[in-house]
Amino acid sequence: MKKFKLVSVLLVAILMAVVAVGCSDDGETSAEGGNEGSKGGKVNIGIVLPTKDEPRWVQDEARFNDALKDTEYSTEILFSQGSSAKEKENVETLISKGIDVLIIAPHDGAAAGAAVEAAKKDDITVIAYDRLITDTDAVDYYVTFDSVAVGEAQGQYLIDNAGDGKGIPLYLYAGAASDNNAFLFFEGAWNKLQPKIADGTFVIANSSEAESLKDKAELSRDELGRILGQVTTNWDPNESKNKAQTHLTAASTDLKGDVAILAPNDGTSRAIADVFGTDPDISSFVVTGQDAEKASIQYIIDGKQSMTVFKDVRTLVVDAMGMAVDILKGETPETTGTYDNGSKEVSAKQTDVIVVEQKNVKSELIDSGYYEASEFSGL
Ligand code: BGC
Repeated sequence: MKKFKLVSVLLVAILMAVVAVGCSDDGETSAEGGNEGSKGGKVNIGIVLPTKDEPRWVQDEARFNDALKDTEYSTEILFSQGSSAKEKENVETLISKGIDVLIIAPHDGAAAGAAVEAAKKDDITVIAYDRLITDTDAVDYYVTFDSVAVGEAQGQYLIDNAGDGKGIPLYLYAGAASDNNAFLFFEGAWNKLQPKIADGTFVIANSSEAESLKDKAELSRDELGRILGQVTTNWDPNESKNKAQTHLTAASTDLKGDVAILAPNDGTSRAIADVFGTDPDISSFVVTGQDAEKASIQYIIDGKQSMTVFKDVRTLVVDAMGMAVDILKGETPETTGTYDNGSKEVSAKQTDVIVVEQKNVKSELIDSGYYEASEFSGL
């Protein structure tokens, strides 16, 4: 009887393992262990990414999979599909598989607190990836790009390329207020743009909140939040498109002609550019972006998007995996600074960013091996 019980338990365990592997690639989530290490169900490093619906995060998945080929540790990548509930479920799944390290880019920085607190209870080391998890002690490390520098690069690009003279209409757009990065990007852009708004070079076209704060060089989180409340895209191309249409419909003719547009990332930039590109009263526009998504590189080659801020995801992945491996070996990972997440100073490793426009697409993205020339036309 005892023997039978043991055999049954073993059979059930084998069956569950087979089912788990079979279910892992269901389109919403992917479990592409970098190696055979997940034999027996044990996973060393769990990776949770926010959504498959944006090419930015599919890029990260691909770069993780490249990096994982060479690791001896077992890993699993799950996607949260823009839902904090799904994200928590993903973290719980990974906890049940015995992970020691969790690498997570949260969908919503504050809501993810509950998920990482559950991980912390199990002594799992938590690494926030690209997006900081806020208002919790349960985050140990943060690997990130210099997000203020992203916004500064966007703002400076508009100043350098929007033409001479005064009174250039400036359309402002921002990321999702649930993402700490959206604040950092806007803060960086504001650092550069605010003096040029205050001296009349630019005229804000679509935000009364930004207009009322135009003489303030440094904005509080609350003030930034008020501007974001008016010009957020929620990182959603459709919402960006609708907002741009509404703004152009409301704009008087002196807010048209040659204009400048602060778009926070590539997905929103293409959507906004498509709207501005078809308005007969817009003669020209300069529009920013971020992520070097393939579709935006083609837009840049075609002259439909002005620039993108290239964040080399290969570096971020190497940093995150390097940190995870150090932790697994019982070593302390190297960090370069700290980020205040509202609850603690989180030790962080930060990477620089690069501005890419038509003239340096080839040198920065093709010659560096990030993309193949054959992926684009007209290069
Ligand atoms: C990332 C960007 C991305 C945006 C939307 C931000 O947190 O840093 O690279 O474009 O989220 O997903």
